[in-house]
Amino acid sequence: MFKKTILCIGAGYVGGPTMAVIAKHCPEYKVVVVDINPKRIAQWQSENLPIYEPGLEEVVFTSRGRNLFFSTDVDAHIASSDIIFVSVNTPTKTFGQGAGRAADLQYWEKTARQILKNSSNGKIVVEKSTLPVRTAAAMERILNSNEKGIHFDVLSNPEFLAEGNAIQDLENPDRILIGARHTDSAQKALQQIVDIYAHWIPMEKIVTSNVWSSELSKLVANAFLAQRVSSINTISALCEKTNADIEEVSRAIGMDSRIGSKFLTAGVGFGGSCFKKDILNLAYIAECYGLTEVSKYWEQVVAINSYQQQRFVRIVVSSMFNTVADKKIALFGFAFKADTGDTRESPAIDIAKALMEERAILSIYDPKASDGISSDLQQFRGRFTVEEDPYKTARGAHAIIIATDWKQFKDYQYEKIFEEMEKPAFIFDGRNILDHKKLYEIGFNVHRIGRPPLSHLG
Ligand code: UDX
Ligand code: ADP
Repeated sequence: MFKKTILCIGAGYVGGPTMAVIAKHCPEYKVVVVDINPKRIAQWQSENLPIYEPGLEEVVFTSRGRNLFFSTDVDAHIASSDIIFVSVNTPTKTFGQGAGRAADLQYWEKTARQILKNSSNGKIVVEKSTLPVRTAAAMERILNSNEKGIHFDVLSNPEFLAEGNAIQDLENPDRILIGARHTDSAQKALQQIVDIYAHWIPMEKIVTSNVWSSELSKLVANAFLAQRVSSINTISALCEKTNADIEEVSRAIGMDSRIGSKFLTAGVGFGGSCFKKDILNLAYIAECYGLTEVSKYWEQVVAINSYQQQRFVRIVVSSMFNTVADKKIALFGFAFKADTGDTRESPAIDIAKALMEERAILSIYDPKASDGISSDLQQFRGRFTVEEDPYKTARGAHAIIIATDWKQFKDYQYEKIFEEMEKPAFIFDGRNILDHKKLYEIGFNVHRIGRPPLSHLG
């Protein structure tokens, strides 16, 4: 018999790994993950998990069938659960008020109503998805306006895991944040959630706050991280004009302990499902409260991100004699960062589209993200191929673009690649990960971010 049943609604990047780690550390709890997408659930039940995350298979395979279960039967599992984590998607709204900026809460609200419909006793509901400030209060109102006489406590427990590092972030997080109201009932619920994490996380890392601070902290953490990336990217543009070297600048400022060295790598811009969405959401909330200057300040972080991508494409086209029409260009990397197969908001998407608008022919290789490429670029079908071998990808190409910081890109035999390319051959290292001096010596014209190019063309 299990002590309690934890349910997670939404078996995505957040729900799946988080619940697998909870199940691993809390064998006395039954942990069930449900999703409306039967394909996703079937994959979670199989040997081929629906997401790639280093270390994930081991954690899932250890607990699956023991105290970790995956199912599509959302209603039945709501009925039999004590604690419900909600990690359904909260995309940016594409319609009506706040379109393109506010979070689309329809999935969340539907889930709240579904919880209410299928519950015959009170439950703890925990927001895991990123939600705008005060959503928990709205959800609590929906859940508690019931005629069944049952009471729900809605808590916020935002997820700070980074893709590609999810298992490490879950095993050893910087902090766990849990927000609850100051009522007796909510504080008791909070203690139950603290008890789960206390199985493997030291108490000093478990931070509690009020619900609104918790919700806001999630948006603000992502906004601050993205802001650092945009800040260093603006300086990369300045470095290219002035012959300063962005890596030297990053190192010099990062050694100031007040600034810190992380998130100072210039590149083609940030991607991923969170940064842009959360900043636009933050800006929208600020605007709704009449704080126009605050809103504009944060929107600029996103604007600089687009600028960096456009700037990169301009450098590619202008370096290749102002035309890429009908030239084959090899794109190495399509995921929004290394160690993930996720392409959501990947800078590679906009870079690929802009180059195909210039009539380039793309050949694309990514070690883990091949599946997403065709749908992300569907309107350009016929202008690109998705390859399984990097050497074939570059064969006959005029240029290689590094769009993702996959480590293995450093280890390819670039002499061989160079021989099989059109000349003059170019490399545009959008992540500054390759050995630029060596590539230049091989014969490549090397362009990098925030550093002067190494060109044989004078
Ligand atoms: C982010 C947050 O880090 C995490 O806490 C939150 O829960 C979800 O959003 P994630 O989107 O998985 O995680 O990736 P992250 O490692 O933060 O990188 C985001 C983007 O910024 C990537 O495209 C990455 O390549 C880029 N980046 C990051 C840089 O360009 N330079 C850097 O120095 C760091
Ligand atoms: P995240 O990165 O936040 O985890 P994902 O898009 O990867 O987001 O995952 C969210 C999951 O939530 C998807 O698999 C989706 O099918 C699921 N989902 C959305 N609405 C519901 C719902 N009402 N009931 C169950 N699952 C849902």
